[in-house]
Amino acid sequence: MTLPGPLQGAIAAWLERNGQGGRRAGSDALTATYRAGGSSAAVDLAAYLVARLPATYAAVARVLAETRARRPDLAPESLLDAGSGPGTASWAAVEAWPGLSRVTFLDTAPVFLKLAASLATAGPRPLASAGAVAGSIEAPPGGLGADLVVAAYALAELPLPRAAAAAAMLWAASRSLLVIVEPGTPQGFARIRAAREVLLGQGAVPVAPCTHALACPIAGDDWCHFSVRLARSRAHMHAKGARVPFEDERFAYLVLAREGAPSGLARVIAPPLHAKAGSSFKLCGSGGIEARHVARRDGAAYKLARKLDWGSLFGASATAEDEA
Ligand SMILES: C[S@@+](CC[C@H](N)C(=O)[O-])C[C@H]1O[C@@H](n2cnc3c(N)ncnc32)[C@H](O)[C@@H]1O
Repeated sequence: MTLPGPLQGAIAAWLERNGQGGRRAGSDALTATYRAGGSSAAVDLAAYLVARLPATYAAVARVLAETRARRPDLAPESLLDAGSGPGTASWAAVEAWPGLSRVTFLDTAPVFLKLAASLATAGPRPLASAGAVAGSIEAPPGGLGADLVVAAYALAELPLPRAAAAAAMLWAASRSLLVIVEPGTPQGFARIRAAREVLLGQGAVPVAPCTHALACPIAGDDWCHFSVRLARSRAHMHAKGARVPFEDERFAYLVLAREGAPSGLARVIAPPLHAKAGSSFKLCGSGGIEARHVARRDGAAYKLARKLDWGSLFGASATAEDEA
């Protein structure tokens, strides 16, 4: 997963203009802030662009690709990027749905809104003409309703008891789809689970990762999360003092729709074990959490199972799709 060329160019130009290419110290402080559950209030923008945006973009792009695959019938025309930061999710959304024609950035931080608007001038038309609104996801200003509402790494900035109420506000603003992406940590998953419980109670239909609308079966100190690998640019490697040209971003997510039905299949919710004797999976489906083994001697089923990865759907139609 890499950033779109125009976004890379816009970031490089912004860093150049602001004389802040490659900021090791800022990046270290940023990582420490988010790991400690801190907010973006005093974040170093250059460090965010270099060290965090590539990862949040990769996670959102992966989630939107899954959303499109699950719901090819939906083609949103308007987007509310809630807690937009530099507009990361909007860039991923216009890639996923080139038919999007209206984009609005919503954020409490004017510096982030200004940054989002500046980067967006290098993007396709709906980005270049995006609206920027200063306000909170906890009480979005009226008139911001959109077909697609995306909140990426935004609920993380609220205390857990307020996250589900904010998700309900965002659901009210969504005419078709609500996408929530959070860090793949127990705290990130706790926000996802709280939002899921409240919004299913309001009639929302799970699109992904959940394949059913039953109570979440994840128990104890386990948490549902996924992983996406992203390429690191030279500046990214320098900023993080990294030796390998990639990193794995762990994320938790939830996609809800106003209409339709859950897939009824099962999802692979941990890295599968592909061994000589067969493939083993941890699945979540309407039967709860289940361990499943597909033996090598199972022939065609094994051939399909070998192709499944962490996050894939497990089931007849999913395996056929993965083979395509
Ligand atoms: C970690 S950044 C994520 C930015 C972007 N969505 C991304 O994925 O890269 C969190 C953003 O949420 C914003 N934010 C924090 N609390 C907010 C609130 N109550 N309402 C709206 N935005 C908020 C911050 O200003 C910041 O821009």
